[in-house]
Amino acid sequence: MPAILITGANRGLGLEYVRQYTELGRDVIACTRKPNAPELLELDQDRLQIFQLDVVDHDAIDALAAQLSDIAIDVLVNNAGTCGPKGAPECAEYSGVDNTDYDIWRQILEVNLLGAFKVATAFHPHLARADRGVLVNMSSDLGSIEQNTMGNMYSYRTSKSALNIMTRGLANDWPDIISIAMAPGWCRTELGGMGAEIDPADSVAEQIKAIAKLSQEQSGCFIDRFGQPVAW
Ligand SMILES: NC(=O)c1ccc[n+]([C@@H]2O[C@H](COP(=O)([O-])OP(=O)(O)OC[C@H]3O[C@@H](n4cnc5c(N)ncnc54)[C@H](OP(=O)(O)O)[C@@H]3O)[C@@H](O)[C@H]2O)c1
Repeated sequence: MPAILITGANRGLGLEYVRQYTELGRDVIACTRKPNAPELLELDQDRLQIFQLDVVDHDAIDALAAQLSDIAIDVLVNNAGTCGPKGAPECAEYSGVDNTDYDIWRQILEVNLLGAFKVATAFHPHLARADRGVLVNMSSDLGSIEQNTMGNMYSYRTSKSALNIMTRGLANDWPDIISIAMAPGWCRTELGGMGAEIDPADSVAEQIKAIAKLSQEQSGCFIDRFGQPVAW
């Protein structure tokens, strides 16, 4: 039985993915900067392997991919992400036209884009080993060019738009797996803020159903948690 791999697994949407896939009886590889997070340790450890992983550490990503080289992965959720030190809406304080913090912007790109690309390329062989490997790049409606009617959040938006075109590229380069960009909806997490509309558990439950239904023809698409197309 192949495993599920999730980055940024200690809180928010990543933790929900770990919880729900383990409850579905799946073996989960939880990657996190905080492997001792109590929220992870209280889950079913029979189904769980926890590894320390910072997605900006490319050597560590290569080392983990080598350590897991015998394993097939059928779902990789490239979930680790950030909008900087503050969640929404406060992150707008350093990501508008008049207040751009370039150091934070670089850090966001390092995690949301370069980290996601490095994880994808390091674990592509593991995904290809599964009968139906699915790479889920955790994107955002804020990365949609068509939906951008408000400006601001340049750092986060550009990281997710870039993740989207990366996803389409990987779909072309890797016909042996399904690669998609996922918009989970605005969820109540540290990043989303407590004013968000959606319970992370509800979003992840829908995402898991959508991932299960994906066909090879959908590789390279941008979808929401219900599996419906999102405007690029
Ligand atoms: N919540 C929303 O409304 C929303 C909407 C659209 C998209 N998303 C996307 O969904 C994903 C999960 O976000 P969330 O809402 O669950 O946010 P969250 O609660 O803030 O969780 C972010 C996760 O990413 C991890 N992370 C950050 N930088 C990392 C790094 N360098 N290496 C490894 N892990 C790192 C965090 O770990 P630490 O605890 O170690 O910092 C945490 O586990 C992100 O990609 C986000 O952009 C969220």
